[in-house]
Order: sequence, then C-alpha cells, then structure tokens
Amino acid sequence: MKHEIVICMGSSCFARGNKKHLLMIEQYLAEHGLSDSVVLTGSRCEDQCRTGPNIRIDGQLYGEIDGERLMELLSRHLSQ
Ligand code: FES
Repeated sequence: MKHEIVICMGSSCFARGNKKHLLMIEQYLAEHGLSDSVVLTGSRCEDQCRTGPNIRIDGQLYGEIDGERLMELLSRHLSQ
C-alpha cells in the first residue's frame, strides 16, 4: 500500500513554512528511495489555517509543523 502525503499549499501554510517543507519532503523521499511508495500531493487549504502549517500523512492531519517535527513524522509513518 502506498503512503499518502498531502501538503497544504494554501497561502497561509505556504508562507509559514510549507514552501520549505515541500522541498524537505521531496529530499527525504529521494534520499530514502521512497519516491515510488509515497503519493505526494498538494491541497489548497485544509480549513485549519489557524493551526498551520498543516500536512496530512496517511489521512492524519498534523498542524504547527516545523522542520524537526516533519522529519520525525516522516520517519514514523514511512519506516513501516
Ligand atoms: S492554508 Fe493551509 S489550512 Fe488553510
């Protein structure tokens, strides 16, 4: 089964870090040879701008993402 990552690219989340987080995710997938086992898409807004920047991984929405939290979530979800 493929993992799914949806990164919010709405203006609020994009400006607050998801611009950088998108690059970090792409780099992580490439470095770990996971590009084929993860579907990465963008969304326009998750209607949770207040708690952004938001990223959804395998259906679970995570808010207040920063670089460190992102790396932890990626390794937790994608290591199985
Ligand atoms: S812009 Fe990301 S939740 Fe609204």
